[in-house]
Amino acid sequence: MANTTTKKSTGTKTTAKTAAKTTTKTATAKTAKPAVKKSVKAEVIKPEDRKKILFVASEATPFIQTGGLAEVIGSLSTALAATGKFDVRVVVPLYSDIKKEYRDKFTYLGNLYVHLAWRNQYCGVFSYEKDGVIFYFIDNEFYFKRPGCYGYFDDGERFAFFSRAVLEIMPFLNFYPEVMHCHDWQSALAAIYLKTNYCFRQEYQFIRSLFTIHNIEYQGQYSLDILSSLFDIYGKYQYLVEYNNSINLMKGAIEVSERFSTVSPKYAGEIKDPYYAHGLDPIIRNNHFKLRGILNGIDDKGYNSELDTHLFANFTPEDMSGKAVCKRELQKMLNLPQKPDTPIISMISRLVAHKGLDLVTNVIEEVLQDDVQLVILGTGDYQYESYFRDLARRYPDKVSANIVFNGDLSRKIYSGSDIFLMPSKSEPCGLSQMIACRYATVPIVRETGGLYDSIKPLENGYTFANYNAHDMLYVIRKAIEDYKNKEEWAKLRYRAAKTDFSWNKSAKEYEALYLEMLK
Ligand code: GLC
Repeated sequence: MANTTTKKSTGTKTTAKTAAKTTTKTATAKTAKPAVKKSVKAEVIKPEDRKKILFVASEATPFIQTGGLAEVIGSLSTALAATGKFDVRVVVPLYSDIKKEYRDKFTYLGNLYVHLAWRNQYCGVFSYEKDGVIFYFIDNEFYFKRPGCYGYFDDGERFAFFSRAVLEIMPFLNFYPEVMHCHDWQSALAAIYLKTNYCFRQEYQFIRSLFTIHNIEYQGQYSLDILSSLFDIYGKYQYLVEYNNSINLMKGAIEVSERFSTVSPKYAGEIKDPYYAHGLDPIIRNNHFKLRGILNGIDDKGYNSELDTHLFANFTPEDMSGKAVCKRELQKMLNLPQKPDTPIISMISRLVAHKGLDLVTNVIEEVLQDDVQLVILGTGDYQYESYFRDLARRYPDKVSANIVFNGDLSRKIYSGSDIFLMPSKSEPCGLSQMIACRYATVPIVRETGGLYDSIKPLENGYTFANYNAHDMLYVIRKAIEDYKNKEEWAKLRYRAAKTDFSWNKSAKEYEALYLEMLK
């Protein structure tokens, strides 16, 4: 890989020295302003007593998103800051896909050079404050000026640079967190470098690391040949990252972190089992004493049927008349017959196998014999994309297949449908079932991971236990039957819409975990 050095991409001209000065000042000024949201009752904590938390992640809303990870980074950091007890900052790469409306408002803080094995790479630092959280963006055009976030041959090198930069910007910002909270394999090396290269230095010695697994399927696996030449890890630390004759970055982060967690209590149990662990179960079991499962919340202000401007009409759990409008307009938009009493089953999902699509393809034509409509939204594997396109062609009055990723349409579907299907084979947490509830659409889920923890049969949805197409079919038919009983259905969707999926409870669990780590 060429030792390419790049220029900063935007921003005013500032020398590194003055930028560092400004940064320190900015940091102090920010510290003086407690991040308390008016609506949240917060204990009064002196700004200097707030615990310093740094989230390290590869994506964060509202700036850049490919999946649920980004939403959790954006909404959990905000919820923690709103307690007034934490000085929360987040660091992500400055991808070229970061929305321009935000990028234009970023402040250029300066630049430094990041050393990694024989490479010495430019690292620009930008910042932006939102709802009490300071976001930092790591700029290097060679690594991040490309479309999308992942999927490049040199992803290992890109996120090694990013992780190293996270540790290198700490003196530059004069910000040393008490907890460095890393998320998924892309930030695993930040926890690993802390242990192998940095914790011996005075300023870094009190940083604790927490590693959160959002999906154990993606572990960051590489050949051992590039251990020192690319990842800059000395031979004596090979044992930390080595697993099954390869480098496994997720394994390394689990080994070195004071605690590790995952995004639901059920999944925390499941990943001890080979069926769910993609080979890492022995590591999870060995380290089980450090593991916690904390259910994700969602941004319940962002997903609010009363205020959401994407909807055809707004509604509340108490007055669902607007939901009928949403349904009618959705049918119209998708060229489906406008039948108010025909239940719409929707799926908004990446079209990949672990989302349970083989169950769907097995029995959906039996479901379509009933008076129902099916709406699909998402992209993914060609096999499923073409299956649903074909299904829509064969059932034009019943099926609408939208093989795109479209945030606006997703909200129109969440609000306009009646039943939301999410039969995942595995699901660390899942946010869509919670979002569906917020729009009074009743979920049908398989009892796995966060689906199990968030949806309770007959309380706010339907569930089935075994990964079996006919078990799913049985439950779908039950829901279609129940839908006909208007009074009971109204009660069920009311309960779904009223379920508390805010961060209130889970943010407290993270708080307790941080405090436990800082003891
Ligand atoms: C991953 C998981 C999903 C979870 C999300 C946020 O995308 O697959 O289940 O909700 O991360 O933690």
